[in-house]
Amino acid sequence: MLTANSALLRKDEDALVDIGDYVAAQENKGLLRFLTCGSVDDGKSTLIGRLLYDTKLIFEDQLAALERDSRKHGTVGDEIDFALLVDGLEAEREQGITIDVAYRFFSTPKRKFIVADTPGHEQYTRNMATGASTADLAIVLVDARQGILPQTRRHSMIASLLGIRHIVLAVNKIDLVGFDRATFERIVEDYRSFAEELGFDSIQPIPMSARYGDNVTLSSGKTPWYRGPSLIEHLENVDIDAHAEGRPFRFPVQYVSRPNLNFRGFAGTVASGRIAVGDPVTVAKSGKRSQIRRIVTRDGDLDEAVEGQAVTLLLEDEVELSRGNMLVTPEARPHVADQFAANLVWFDEKPLLPGRSYILRTETDEVSATVSQLKHRRNINNSAQEAATSLELNEVGHCHFSLQAPIAFDAFADNRTTGAFILIDRLTNATVGAGMILRPLRRAANIHWQALDVTRQSRAEIKHQKPAVLWFTGLSGSGKSTIANLLDKKLHAAGRHTYILDGDNVRHGLNRDLGFSDEDRVENIRRVAETAKLMADAGLIVLVSFISPFRAERRMARELMNEGEFVEVFVDTPFEECARRDPKGLYAKALKGEIKNFTGVDSPYETPERADIHISTTGRTPEELVDDLEAWLKERGYC
Ligand code: ADX
Repeated sequence: MLTANSALLRKDEDALVDIGDYVAAQENKGLLRFLTCGSVDDGKSTLIGRLLYDTKLIFEDQLAALERDSRKHGTVGDEIDFALLVDGLEAEREQGITIDVAYRFFSTPKRKFIVADTPGHEQYTRNMATGASTADLAIVLVDARQGILPQTRRHSMIASLLGIRHIVLAVNKIDLVGFDRATFERIVEDYRSFAEELGFDSIQPIPMSARYGDNVTLSSGKTPWYRGPSLIEHLENVDIDAHAEGRPFRFPVQYVSRPNLNFRGFAGTVASGRIAVGDPVTVAKSGKRSQIRRIVTRDGDLDEAVEGQAVTLLLEDEVELSRGNMLVTPEARPHVADQFAANLVWFDEKPLLPGRSYILRTETDEVSATVSQLKHRRNINNSAQEAATSLELNEVGHCHFSLQAPIAFDAFADNRTTGAFILIDRLTNATVGAGMILRPLRRAANIHWQALDVTRQSRAEIKHQKPAVLWFTGLSGSGKSTIANLLDKKLHAAGRHTYILDGDNVRHGLNRDLGFSDEDRVENIRRVAETAKLMADAGLIVLVSFISPFRAERRMARELMNEGEFVEVFVDTPFEECARRDPKGLYAKALKGEIKNFTGVDSPYETPERADIHISTTGRTPEELVDDLEAWLKERGYC
C-alpha cells in the first residue's frame, strides 16, 4: 500500500516507469487516469483532499496531523480542512523542489485512480499538458457563485486538444448558493453551449460541495433535484475504453536489444492495438515486411501483447530497424512525411517564431523542425480563429510544420501516443511547446529531390576551389559589409569565384516583404541561409553579411551547410562605437525613437559564443583586419 507521500511521485521518466510497474503489479482492476482543472479558489485542493480522505487512503498518522493542523490553521472551524493536505505539498513545491505535476493514487473496490494534480500558477498550461497527456478524463471545477470563467474555457479547450474525451463539470460550492437548482442548471447550460464544438464524448455535470462532501462519494440529500451519480460513482463507471478497441497495432521502437549475436530484439511499449506471434508486421518508414517470431518479456515469452505492455519483439527476418522507427500492422500503416499540420500549445516566455528551428521529439523520434506557417491562433475565450505571426505563452495555434527528415506518425485523434510531440528549444533545452498532429501535408508528398548529373563536387572542382559560406554577423554599422567587400575584392583578384549576400541588398529584392520584427528577422535569415547553401552547392565562396542577431538562426545556418563549409565571423564593434560611426544615420534616428526594433536599441543582439573568427574592429583598419582574415582562411585551405 502506498502512503500519500510516496504516492507523490516526481514527474520524471523513472517515476513514470515506477507508476507503470506499480499499476501493472496490482490485480486486474480497471484504471482511470484523470486530472482536475481549476484553481485553489475553485476548491481543487479541497476536492482532491476529500477524494483521498473519503477513499481512506490517507494514513492514520497523517490524519491525526491533519486534524491537528485543521484546528490550528484551518479556515473551516472544527472540521477537517482538506485543502491543507494538498496545500502542504504545494508548499513543498514552492521551496524549490520542482514538481510540475504530482500524481496521487487512490482506489475503490471497483477501480484504481491516478489523479494528476497540477499547480495553478501561470505555468499552468504546461503542467496541465504534462498531466493531461495520459489522462482519460478531466474534472473541470467551477465555483457555483462565479459560473463559467475564461480559465474554465481555456482548460476545457486544452483538455480537448490533448485528447481528453470525458469531462466532469463539477459545480462546486453549491452549498454557498443554497443548493440552488436554477444556478446549477444555468452553469450547465452555459458550459454545454461553449463545449459543444470541443467534441467530448461525455460531459457529466455534478452539483457538489467538496468541503462538506455533497455528491462526492455519496449522493447528497440536499440536492434532491439532482438524479445523477456522485463523483466517485461516475469515476467508477464511466466507459473510457470505447476508443481503445480496434485500433491498429503501433510499436514505437525504444531501442534495439542485442545481448549476443543470436538475439536481436526490438524493445518498446505497445502504443495501440495488439500483436501475436506469427502476425505480419511492417517497418513504418521503409515499408519492409516481416513476421513476429517471439514476444519476449522478463517473465518469459508471450503469445500475444496488447496496448500498454512493455515487450521485446523478435522478427523472422533481419530488417533494418532502430530507435526512431515503428513496427506497425501492414493493414493500417501510419503516415510517413516531413510536413504536417498540428495544433500547438506554446509554453515558453519567449514567443514561438515561425521559421526558427526547434527540436521536435515524438515518442521515439527526434528531428529538427520549423513552423513553416502559422495558419491561425485560437482565441481561448470563444475558440475563434485569429490571424497571428507568433504564439505567446499559453497560446494555441494551428501550424504547418516542416521537418528535416520524415517521421512516422498518426493523427492525434487516432492515437495519442504516435500523434503527439513536444518542441524543445535548441539553445536552452527547455520544452517550449506540445503538439497534436492533425494530418500530413500532401503537397510535399509528390516532390522528390531531383538527382543532378553535374555534382556539387564537380562544380567546385572546375573552379579549383573549396566552397564555403563566410557568415559575417554583428551590429549594424559594425563594419561587416566593408570587411566582406574588401575580402571579396581580394579573393576575386586571386581568381576565386565568390558572391556577396548583403542584408541591405537582399532586402531590396528577395526579402523586400520583410521588416525588422523578430519573426521577420528569423525568416530573413532562413531565406538567406538557404540561398547561401544553393550558392555553395554551385561551388561558390559566399560572403554573407547580415546582422543575424539570433543565435538560433546562426546555428540553423551552420547546420544547413556541409561539414566544415560554414565559417562564422563575428565582427565585434561595441554599440557605442557603431552609434558614433553611424554610417547611415540610423542610430541617431533609433535613439530618438524614430525607428522601431532597432538592433542594440530596442531589439536584441545575441553575441556569438563560439564564432570561428572573432574580429575586434576597434583601433584597426579594415585592411589589417582583412589581411588577418585571409591568413586564417589560407591556413585552413579555404582560399
Ligand atoms: S537582420 O537582423 O535581419 O539580419 P539585416 O542584416 O537584414 O538585419 O539588415 C540590417 C540593415 O537594415 C542594417 O544594416 C540597416 O542598414 C538596416 N535597418 C533598417 N532598420 C533596421 C532596424 N530596425 N534594425 C537593424 N537594422 C535596420
